Amino acid sequence: SWRRDVRRRLFAWFEDHARVLPWRSEPTPYRVWVSEIMLQQTQVATVLPYYERWMRQYPTVVDLANADEADLMRIWEGLGYYRRVRSMHAAAKRVVQEHEGKFPTDFDAVLALPGIGRYTAGAILSIACDQRLPILEGNTQRVFSRWAAMSLTPTETKANKWLWQFSEQLLPQHECGTFNQAAMEIGALVCTPKNPKCDECPIRQLCCTAAAGLQESIPGKITR
Ligand code: ADE
Repeated sequence: SWRRDVRRRLFAWFEDHARVLPWRSEPTPYRVWVSEIMLQQTQVATVLPYYERWMRQYPTVVDLANADEADLMRIWEGLGYYRRVRSMHAAAKRVVQEHEGKFPTDFDAVLALPGIGRYTAGAILSIACDQRLPILEGNTQRVFSRWAAMSLTPTETKANKWLWQFSEQLLPQHECGTFNQAAMEIGALVCTPKNPKCDECPIRQLCCTAAAGLQESIPGKITR
């Protein structure tokens, strides 16, 4: 089937091309959470030194809960969007108060934490706990839109709903965390917003957008 072929090719490609990133070794819920929050709105290269400093200073969620607010602001300086770090501090305190200092592994409990939406909860629990949860963020929105040659504009509610369903249906039964990371990775390295490297893409033969030669027009431009 198409889905099985896509999965097989994506896994094979990821084995050879996955970047070695600090949160990929020892992917605990806490470490994956911190990486995913930092990676929202911020490039991997920028995040790397911040992530290493953060993990030295706050190796566990309890260390984060006990952190001094001013120290947190200082360690975040340069990353911007300070709401992210305030939410993480609040979430860490909730983990201490409501989950005995252990990061929850129940989807609804994770989703209830400040600053965590469907994407982040799915990323944490699929990557750290191998739970079968789909993800959808910037990279995978673009990648899935292209694989399916989705004609809806990405900002339409209908498009979002359709892409979440697509993401869910494409998930394998096992190794969902690896699958999700591979889908994001191919978006970051190959299926880029501008000038996608279709020549290097393992999904090219299965990609509806490549078949139609539409890689410059899918996903559609966001107009306001
Ligand atoms: N972008 C955001 N999270 C990512 C991840 N886990 N792997 C690759 N790119 C990402």
